[in-house]
Amino acid sequence: MKATCLVLLFAAGTFALTLPTFPKPVTQSTAWNSSFKFSQEQIELGQLWPDLADNLETILNFDRSQLANGGPSQDSFYKLDNGTSLAPPHCPGQVLKVQNITNPAAWNIPAKTALSRFIYTTTNANGTLIPASAYVLWPWTAKQFGAKSNGKAPVVLWSHGTSGFFADGSPSAHRALFYGNIMPFTLAQAGYAVIATDYAGLGVQTSWDGSYVPHQYINRLANAFDSLYALRAARSIFSDKITDEYVNVGHSQGGTAAWGVSEVLAENSDKKFQDLECNYLGTIIFAPGMDTLDSAPQVFGPWIGKDLHLMYPDFKLSDWLLPLGVDRTELLTQIQGGQYVSELLLLANVTKILNPAWNESWYATAFTEFTNPGNRPYKAPMIMFQGTEDQGTEPYMRALSTFESTCENYHSGAFEFVALTGVAHFPSMDSSRQQWLQWIEDRFNKKPVGSNQCTKSTLNSFLPAESYQELSTSFPQWAGAANEFFELVAGGF
Ligand SMILES: *[C@@H]1O[C@H](CO)[C@@H](O)[C@H](O)[C@H]1NC(C)=O
Ligand SMILES: *[C@@H]1O[C@H](CO)[C@@H](O)[C@H](O)[C@H]1NC(C)=O
Ligand SMILES: *[C@@H]1O[C@H](CO)[C@@H](O)[C@H](O)[C@H]1NC(C)=O
Ligand SMILES: *[C@@H]1O[C@H](CO)[C@@H](O)[C@H](O)[C@H]1NC(C)=O
Ligand SMILES: *[C@@H]1O[C@H](CO)[C@@H](O)[C@H](O)[C@H]1NC(C)=O
Ligand SMILES: *[C@@H]1O[C@H](CO)[C@@H](O)[C@H](O)[C@H]1NC(C)=O
Repeated sequence: MKATCLVLLFAAGTFALTLPTFPKPVTQSTAWNSSFKFSQEQIELGQLWPDLADNLETILNFDRSQLANGGPSQDSFYKLDNGTSLAPPHCPGQVLKVQNITNPAAWNIPAKTALSRFIYTTTNANGTLIPASAYVLWPWTAKQFGAKSNGKAPVVLWSHGTSGFFADGSPSAHRALFYGNIMPFTLAQAGYAVIATDYAGLGVQTSWDGSYVPHQYINRLANAFDSLYALRAARSIFSDKITDEYVNVGHSQGGTAAWGVSEVLAENSDKKFQDLECNYLGTIIFAPGMDTLDSAPQVFGPWIGKDLHLMYPDFKLSDWLLPLGVDRTELLTQIQGGQYVSELLLLANVTKILNPAWNESWYATAFTEFTNPGNRPYKAPMIMFQGTEDQGTEPYMRALSTFESTCENYHSGAFEFVALTGVAHFPSMDSSRQQWLQWIEDRFNKKPVGSNQCTKSTLNSFLPAESYQELSTSFPQWAGAANEFFELVAGGF
């Protein structure tokens, strides 16, 4: 029941006064909507001590509480019904399941946005056909760019950053679609339809043939395929509602994926993506993930290594991890642990996680060369936003030098590098919001990019750098129960 505040209703010369009928207010529950506890076997497998187990449970229960309807392990949307598909799917971009309008009650999406979800076929990095899930976040009014828009919503193809490594890490099941205001809400409220893959393995865990669907974490090609095939599938479902033209955007892991999209489209030697090539308007990359294994092998090793045998069949997790690292990766898989659960688990007893010989076999070098974006032809125009203080200065230096060597050796048209002074990893999107919204608008308006060359620019803050909030300090807590009305700015209206 919705509480109604003092509302004056005028009707035919008289007026009626509707008095509010509030339910008894309750204190916001500080207990999460999840009460997971480790089993004795799991405690032994991970060699957890009581305090560590307790801390992990706190984080895991928080993560699970952020999932609408209990998330992929409980929401039947993410289950493929083997019985209903007449024939196994045969090509990527095929639609397997559509929830044309998702009931948004369990989500925290902004008022006057709407959600759709769908499951479609994609391929892993090596071409095997697998399912993946995606969402569309819809605007209330579709931004129009002249007659060509024809009433349809302009498309932004969005690739998200690290949200997890297993089914429960799917942004489409997260109450705020994981990035909330930072990206999808902002885009939908600006009039765009946001088409966003979860990436294979996040969301749908079991394929149509009953097999497990792994997530190829921070894999440039696998994640780019997931994004492109989601677009193809969305076009076939919503052809009357979305433009063929699109701008391609990604951050962090998704910055790597979005850069990968532009590289896949530029290469496209076998014309696999002809349908998605011609209406491409450009790519925006924020703080792409590069050289991740070298930066923190204790955590990236397990995240990448758990499914690396899909690319390199001889690879064993023990090539990178010691026995405790292997066991804890198995435990993470059982509990579908996300980023902070993983970090707590893997950085405890950190000297017993990583095999010191992890970088002596060829796998780490091969994976890094394969997954690092850049130093290949790309489909222009592109723009990259990178903060100078992104977990130190190293990511900035790496992004800049990759930009420079790509421009020198593979120049393929307009590519701009924007340095954001004093900005960290996530605020790369908050700080430059006006610039990238304008860039998207300019592409839909067919405004020529200033130069077909590679260019560099810098954005500085308006006030002195030390004046600003560094990172946001709250999270979107679900408060949709009737007796929590007073916690919402617009609770009664
Ligand atoms: C809370 O969790 C339960 C079970 O995990 C789930 O059924 C329910 O939908 C969740 N509540 C919300 C508002 O998502
Ligand atoms: C969902 O289906 C209904 C009925 O066919 C249609 O009116 C509506 O426009 C569809 N919504 C979307 C987002 O396609
Ligand atoms: C799904 O159907 C295929 C045959 O099309 C069958 O081989 C497979 O075992 C089925 N999987 C499940 C989980 O029932
Ligand atoms: C998968 O792709 C990688 C990179 O192209 C290649 O090195 C590897 O041999 C392939 N693996 C399989 C199993 O085909
Ligand atoms: C892990 O560290 C804890 C706390 O320092 C210690 O009690 C435990 O014995 C260590 N476990 C292993 C397997 O080294
Ligand atoms: C492997 O990594 C370690 C640090 O984890 C480093 O000290 C060592 O030099 C590296 N070896 C090679 C062969 O790159």
